[in-house]
Amino acid sequence: MNDFLYKNGDLYCEELRVADIAEKVGTPFYLYSENTFASHLKAVDEAFGDIEHLICFSVKANSNLAVLRMLASRGAGADVVSGGELYRALKAGVEPGKIVYAGLGKTSSEIEYALNEGILMFNVESSEELMLINEVAVRLGVEAPIALRVNPDIDPGTHPYIATGLKQSKFGIPLTEAMAEYEVAHNLPGLKPIGIHQHIGSQILDSGPFENSVKKVANLAGSLRELGMEIAYLNIGGGFGIQYTDEEAPAPEEFARAVVPLLSETGCTLLMEVGRMIAGNAGILVTSVLYNKQGEEKRFVVVDAAMNDLIRPSLYQAIHTIAPAVKRDEAEPVKVDVVGPICESGDFLGQDVELPEVEQGDLLAVFTAGAYGFTMSSNYNSRTRVPEILVSGSKAYVIRRRETYEDLIRGEAIPEDF
Ligand code: LLP
Repeated sequence: MNDFLYKNGDLYCEELRVADIAEKVGTPFYLYSENTFASHLKAVDEAFGDIEHLICFSVKANSNLAVLRMLASRGAGADVVSGGELYRALKAGVEPGKIVYAGLGKTSSEIEYALNEGILMFNVESSEELMLINEVAVRLGVEAPIALRVNPDIDPGTHPYIATGLKQSKFGIPLTEAMAEYEVAHNLPGLKPIGIHQHIGSQILDSGPFENSVKKVANLAGSLRELGMEIAYLNIGGGFGIQYTDEEAPAPEEFARAVVPLLSETGCTLLMEVGRMIAGNAGILVTSVLYNKQGEEKRFVVVDAAMNDLIRPSLYQAIHTIAPAVKRDEAEPVKVDVVGPICESGDFLGQDVELPEVEQGDLLAVFTAGAYGFTMSSNYNSRTRVPEILVSGSKAYVIRRRETYEDLIRGEAIPEDF
């Protein structure tokens, strides 16, 4: 399923040489493989083939319109967490009836927008949010389809910043309070409970936490139905872990084996909010070496990409494989920190990386950057955001152009009397 492979020492994306693309578009840039996206979507789809299901691609992982269109045209829905993500999903052609809306700070205008568009359902995170959705729905004269995001208090064993289903986390409604909240919702005129939602974390490398949490929440379905609620969906969220370096990531089938039997018993349609597993290994970040620099204790390779382009190493101590896009036989391996031009010591793409000797102008590929790469990028240090290029077979498309200095100041104003 990997479309980023070396042929005679040259890294290719599908049928195109990465170095050739770099020559055309300049560096740094994100490079995606359409085939990888599509085959990952298909793999998840097939793994869960024994049960009625819908894959809602988690837009926060990669929100480029072309990526969303490509996945939507292959049947995917979308998991959105803001009015902006909803706008993107709709612009890309995702069917409103396949969109679920999560996030614990929905505003009334975002709720109104989603209701007017006729999304599949809201994943509700608190009792005050429940009240607000009811209020907006009543005002619009509609019934809002909802699921409660239940917090099952499960440790997913991931980085603390991306564990979301523990009782000390800000997300969801405690399992112990869920029944009462559902009853409140059931009795409100603007709400229609149709599902149960959970999302316990991201980059989960073991199917156990999924199994345990689904065990905890699946029972709710029966109890809610007894109270007259038509619970038709069980949403297990996202979080399927992937391989970045040498970790062993379970195949989608392994996750499916752990939860499908439990889900089948509920008679619910399964919803999944998959981000990383579809997008992560479908993209790389390509950067050029600017300088080699010998510090007193460390050797640095200064590149033209930085933490503003890919923040995962700085923010989560995430490790991404970094390798030359064109391998030279004679190059000796050295241990270096791959750092960007930003004025912060936390600005690195890799620390103590084993890399063959590189020279100014050499291209480096930072792998597994298709999820939470571009979407978390920023203009820090007034750096223009990089282009996104999508390869399909032997064709390359610019699906987002490089920003210009003009883009950087768009929307700013100097008061007239300054
Ligand atoms: N559903 C909900 C409610 C979520 O909060 C998330 C991710 C997902 C689905 C998708 O999870 P995935 O399948 O991609 O694991 N920026 C971090 C990851 C943050 C994840 C936030 N929520 C990173 O770069 O590792």
